[in-house]
Amino acid sequence: MSEETKQAASKTADPSPAARPSLSWRLWSKLPAPIRKWSRETIVKRRVAANYKYDMRRYVDASSTLTKEYSRESYRALITMDYHRLEKGMALPEPRLGFGVDVLKRLQRDLPKYISAHGHDDMTDVAFNALREYVGFHAKQGMDFPELQAFVDSQARRDGGCESGGTHALARREVEDATGFDASRFFMSRHSIREFVQAPVEAEKIERAVRHAMESPSVCNRQSWRVHWYRKRERIDQMLSFQDGNRGFGHAVPELLVITSDMSAFTKAGERNQCWVDGGMFSMALVLALHAERLGSCCLNWSVEASRDSAMRASGQIPDNEAVMMMLAVGEIPGELRVAQSPRRPVEHVLRRD
Ligand SMILES: Cc1cc2nc3c(=O)[nH]c(=O)nc-3n(C[C@H](O)[C@H](O)[C@H](O)COP(=O)(O)O)c2cc1C
Repeated sequence: MSEETKQAASKTADPSPAARPSLSWRLWSKLPAPIRKWSRETIVKRRVAANYKYDMRRYVDASSTLTKEYSRESYRALITMDYHRLEKGMALPEPRLGFGVDVLKRLQRDLPKYISAHGHDDMTDVAFNALREYVGFHAKQGMDFPELQAFVDSQARRDGGCESGGTHALARREVEDATGFDASRFFMSRHSIREFVQAPVEAEKIERAVRHAMESPSVCNRQSWRVHWYRKRERIDQMLSFQDGNRGFGHAVPELLVITSDMSAFTKAGERNQCWVDGGMFSMALVLALHAERLGSCCLNWSVEASRDSAMRASGQIPDNEAVMMMLAVGEIPGELRVAQSPRRPVEHVLRRD
């Protein structure tokens, strides 16, 4: 027996007090294997269930699934869903005359209630513009809606409102002109960046990227996304202390964004996962928009359990009605750096043809 083997054997036979297994471990290891397996499964399932319960409680509290007293955001979401139904209807190749009777009724009920509680805002302007276009579209086809017209005239704000809402014409040429660049180079040159120039980023670059990311599609145009922006070193360090994937570079992240999705934009049980879809799409768009600003970014997972989620949100002053999608480290890219290759699987693995 070699000296090393002897040493290893003596260690196994006589563990030091520190290396000795704990009493609970020794008791556990004496249990029959099937009971250990059952217990392990039960513990894991309970833990997963507790986390789902946390998500459920927050979804039910924030969304309008159960509430009768709508928060401003919930109310906005409900009205947005409705006026957007009109927009979608008018954007069809052949809109059906007189479509959306129920929607019109609800808008005539909900808009005045919303305005009396919260006043006019961008959403009410857009809703009235959609209604105006609806009336105008039907008038051209010889169908009049005098009551609806009177409702719009009496309720819409007379000046200072925004002009968007409804539909607009789009020429294929506009899309061709806007996309005549090397998209492949654009996508292939984006990498997760974990080394940054040690200086703050010009605020306009991040603001513009957020503005561009807000062009992401979202369910019924509800735009549940929010971005919390942390710039002070202590705040960034504090926020990153809750996150597990920033070791080795977190201390040098110049700008930190936390992307969330406001669950009050969602209205029913079937929409319980919608915040992750809309928030995920926005997150990707933001990463690409930052890339277009020549900024580097690295997504930082928010794969945590309930207690850590609560603690981080409290620390970052992120309200209970917002679900955290991810953190995003952002900064200017240095002249030279290394990035992980992260090769992709073959396209055939992803793209399955029928
Ligand atoms: C949701 C999400 C969470 C991620 N979390 C981390 C993280 O915590 N730390 C990290 O260094 N990279 C993180 N990444 C970056 C991935 O490792 C990276 O996107 C992937 O390896 C592909 O590399 P690329 O972005 O350079 O193309 C995350 C990416 C996503 C989309």
